[in-house]
Amino acid sequence: MSKFVVTGGNRLQGSVRVSGSKNSTSALMFAAALGKDDVILTNIPLNSDVITMSEILRSIGVEVKFNGQSVIINGANITNHQPPYELVRRIRASVYTAGLLLGRLGMADVAMPGGDEIGTRPIDLHIRGFQTLGSEVTIEHGQMVCKSKGLKGATYYINKVSVGATINMMLAAVLAEGVTIIDNPAKEPEVVDCAILLNSMGAKIRGAGTASIKIEGVESLHGCEHTPIPDRIEAGTFMIATAAIGGDVQVNNVITEHLRMVISKLREAGAEIIEGDNDIRIICNHRLKTVDVDTGVYPGFATDLQAPFGVLLSKAEGTGIICETVFDNRFRYIDELRRMGADIKVERDTAIFRGVERLSGAPVVGTDIRAGVSLVIAGLMAEGVTEVSGACHIDRGYENFDEKLRDLGAGIQRVAESLEEVKA
Ligand code: UD1
Repeated sequence: MSKFVVTGGNRLQGSVRVSGSKNSTSALMFAAALGKDDVILTNIPLNSDVITMSEILRSIGVEVKFNGQSVIINGANITNHQPPYELVRRIRASVYTAGLLLGRLGMADVAMPGGDEIGTRPIDLHIRGFQTLGSEVTIEHGQMVCKSKGLKGATYYINKVSVGATINMMLAAVLAEGVTIIDNPAKEPEVVDCAILLNSMGAKIRGAGTASIKIEGVESLHGCEHTPIPDRIEAGTFMIATAAIGGDVQVNNVITEHLRMVISKLREAGAEIIEGDNDIRIICNHRLKTVDVDTGVYPGFATDLQAPFGVLLSKAEGTGIICETVFDNRFRYIDELRRMGADIKVERDTAIFRGVERLSGAPVVGTDIRAGVSLVIAGLMAEGVTEVSGACHIDRGYENFDEKLRDLGAGIQRVAESLEEVKA
């Protein structure tokens, strides 16, 4: 176990290269295993979620070989439809094992995810989707048990926009017999990236990124090479951090179209943003103004950037309001931020930030990936030293986060955390 010791006061200066998208890679690794030939994913982020996914895939018979920043995935020998609970429970993206196994074997027995740090996380929309394709789905002893005599294409309107349900439907439907239509799918770039990979493998998917996705089932898929899109959440995190802490940073390897919402909100708050072809420079030498933000599905403001933006608002001038419309428990970082001197009132899905002039360092706990990085940013904005426990959460989704910040001049060190501290 490790924690970050963060010392505030340094401006951020220099350039940072964004890694491949964590959430894309989650979907792509399962999609790659649908075929029986080698699929090579290059420039993937080497975070701990990727390692967990490789273990889940291996547990069902998929060959997974790492080679530097690439991974070679071959699903020719998938035989086991029951990945072990111990692995599945670690990450939400393990639910994609169900779509993969249904597509390939017509059956899956996968542990149901529980609620987690950011709120209740049901999978009813995934289940209804599988049923629409003709699978029987029952819940037995905490497991989602899917059985089919071969999936058949069908039309499925997803009641609530869901990235996970959309991707799981695509995974199950590409090898199904006939045509599947997914209406009201998620339009997130990670969904489009997954469709691009599947099409490169020989799938017939049209309309990803629009209001309706059409999938014509194919007999089999073949090998290819694919690079995930740059991580728009990591890019947004460094952009927000620079604006909040102060500095001049060029964020490299970005797709600016994926970052419209964060560019707009940072400009509205008073940061200077210069957009290049695949880089963005952020300059900020003064106190920002508060702005209001409602999170939403793409192209709305990403819920994954809500916590970093809340930290930014905590020291901005005036009163700003964040409405979290996607998950029901994503304000847990706020209690920790209050301990650093922030003035924030929370009422159900709304947080009201009255900007303060200073934050002061304190020991704090990051309870999930985004809460963790946000508290690191808060520590860099604060006077004195902040100890952020739970570095393991940050490691799940960010590759070398501390190193990248240090290269920008931030005062951040990773140190071992004792068992007593973890228990406390
Ligand atoms: C993915 C991302 C996560 C991001 C989220 C929203 C991955 C690995 N994770 O999570 O980082 O914050 O998209 O952009 O890619 N819902 C239901 N029933 C379901 C499924 C979802 O009610 O069956 C609800 C959820 O509780 C939530 C909303 O739909 O309120 C959106 O969730 P969803 O888009 O499915 O998020 P994930 O795919 O889990």
